[in-house]
Amino acid sequence: MQEKIGSIFFDAYGTLFDVASVARKCRELFGDSAVELTALWREKQLQFTWLRSLMDSYTDFEQVTEEALICACRLLNLVPKSGKIASLMAAYDRLDAFPEVKAALAGLNGFSLSIVSNGTPAMLSAAVESTGLSEIFAHLISVDEIKVYKPSPRVYALALEKTGLPAAGAAFVSSNAFDAAGAKAFGFRAVWVNRGGKPWDGPGERPEVEIEDLSGLGEIVGV
Ligand code: LAC
Repeated sequence: MQEKIGSIFFDAYGTLFDVASVARKCRELFGDSAVELTALWREKQLQFTWLRSLMDSYTDFEQVTEEALICACRLLNLVPKSGKIASLMAAYDRLDAFPEVKAALAGLNGFSLSIVSNGTPAMLSAAVESTGLSEIFAHLISVDEIKVYKPSPRVYALALEKTGLPAAGAAFVSSNAFDAAGAKAFGFRAVWVNRGGKPWDGPGERPEVEIEDLSGLGEIVGV
């Protein structure tokens, strides 16, 4: 029999915070290219984290995010003027939480809740503060401490080390398939948040547990 879930680890960007919410600012600055730019920015951001980990050439997530934004602008023939880049980077610290997040997390009383993210400590603090989630999490765990990105198993090991919690009885919740796959391969009970009902696009087998958004989490962990 599987152990009862007592602790829950959450990915940040795409799972709690909506990276597409920067599209509003993108539209103000780059007009009709906004949606394409927002998507390509995210794609390049993740790609650069994987490449930097493989290259053993870590720069923090803020730098990666800015480098990815400038690259995405170039690819779309948009001029990455420094004022526009600074203003989009500032918007990244004030992303919206997905609409159901606050109520869903508030319903998880009695569980130890932590964020495990590529984001720097400063980015994660800004995100939880601006979305009113600061009180909810026991730990904000950043890869910055070990200077390697998800899905390195070292990141998932860091989560256990920082919290002192065992992997048995812990769930790892992510909407990013590569992250859910990494957490599952490490030994967590992985929960894939499949916003939008997409086909599984991660490496390896899809996690056994899939939910549409975080409002389905309480039932999974036995609230
Ligand atoms: C994070 C990225 C994967 O929050 O979105 O770690």
